[in-house]
Amino acid sequence: MINQATKSQNQLPLPPGNLGLPVIGETISFLSDPDFATKRQNKFGNIFKTNIFGSPTIMMIGAEANRFVFSSENQNFTIKWPESVSVLLGTASLATQIGSIHQKRRKLLSQAFQPRALANYLPSMVEITNSYLHKWTNLGQLTWYPELRKYTFDVACKLLVGTDATNDHHFAELFEEWCLGLFTLPIRLPWTKFGKALKCRDQLLAKIEKIILQRQQQPISEQDALGLLLNAKDEDGNSLSIEELKDQILTLLFAGHETLTSALSSFCLLLAQNPEILAAARKEQQQISCTGALTSEHLQQMTYLDQILKEVLRVIPPVGGGFRSVIQTCEFNGYCIPEGWSVLYQIGKTHQDETIYKDAKSFDPQRFGIDRAEDKSKPFSYATFGGGMRECIGKEFAKLEMKIFAALLLRGYEWELVAGQNLDLAMIPTPQPRDGLKVIFHSID
Ligand code: HEM
Repeated sequence: MINQATKSQNQLPLPPGNLGLPVIGETISFLSDPDFATKRQNKFGNIFKTNIFGSPTIMMIGAEANRFVFSSENQNFTIKWPESVSVLLGTASLATQIGSIHQKRRKLLSQAFQPRALANYLPSMVEITNSYLHKWTNLGQLTWYPELRKYTFDVACKLLVGTDATNDHHFAELFEEWCLGLFTLPIRLPWTKFGKALKCRDQLLAKIEKIILQRQQQPISEQDALGLLLNAKDEDGNSLSIEELKDQILTLLFAGHETLTSALSSFCLLLAQNPEILAAARKEQQQISCTGALTSEHLQQMTYLDQILKEVLRVIPPVGGGFRSVIQTCEFNGYCIPEGWSVLYQIGKTHQDETIYKDAKSFDPQRFGIDRAEDKSKPFSYATFGGGMRECIGKEFAKLEMKIFAALLLRGYEWELVAGQNLDLAMIPTPQPRDGLKVIFHSID
């Protein structure tokens, strides 16, 4: 039986926009045109319909839209990634689980990201960062993006599952090819990106299973996410199945390095392009005397660096938005949001709202100083890590790694962009410079 509210909501108009071609809709333009959302926003406004990844979809831009989506999870919306993403992540991944099982697993996994756990991660993060900074100094000139990827993957392996990835290059390569299958048309043929990624998924899961079996032979330790998951019991007192553990670990390793690689490469790019901000960032580092190892007390003093990192993530957010499925017809801004459709809330476009962010296109860390605090003028206008009950679980881990990396880099090293390279960003699955960010790198003598 349709209730009265749903009936009247069904009478409202659908948002403006085009559904494109049969079946593929506007998927090709969505994947290939970096200005897909901007063009439609200019034409139709902050809410419009399209058809992507085989589903009629309503794109919503702005702080109010974010609030609406984040606050009605499980009521009007539930998570629904495009098929290519959900199949590659697996049904037992935190990112695809829903309802009470999602809440239970989230509670469990969040222990690996509590302040106490993060404090334990700090020395290893510093050590791995320093070893990469030395390596890059020896190289002198390098393509940074793939190197940053190796670095973030090493950190994720060490701190989330307790393994050393440096000796297993194949593991990282498999992830790269697996990532290329995300956000593609889910055509299961051996030569499609999706087909290749599916093959990589099997190989990745086999490697992860090996890591799990090895850990099961070792003494119990809850030092990392894998340790917590291995010791966890479900409501009937049973341990999590190996199949579930594999999907959860795959998700954490992926989410723990793909987004961070994008964020760090954007930091390096934006500071190289903004020498005055770079100079001010170095000045702050010089003012914080730090003999011996970097500690969390030192990091806390770096407030300007916090503003810079926040601004990097505003200008080039690693995750462009989030997909939901409409489970109950609802109304937003006078439009009908019909059950069975998808919704895509937009992070990147929200961050370009000129009514919130003055001169939104410019890179200006001062906008987050206490005197301006532009994002505080409206809740949910800063949405780099999403929000509500699906807010990024690794947010504090990501912020810590970014800050350690940035502080150590600013303290001891210089980098220049090699001339003549393409610095435009490829946007999918996460933003990355098309030529991989070629730099000349040296230590400050
Ligand atoms: C979810 C962004 C780093 C693990 C999310 C979401 C966003 C996001 C926007 C929500 C997606 C949605 O609403 O559907 C980022 C950014 C990062 C980052 C920008 C780095 C700068 C990390 C790290 C980890 C992680 C380091 C793990 C170590 C996850 C997981 C989810 C998630 C597991 C799914 C949570 C759930 O559905 O309950 N992330 N993330 N992320 N993130 Fe992150």
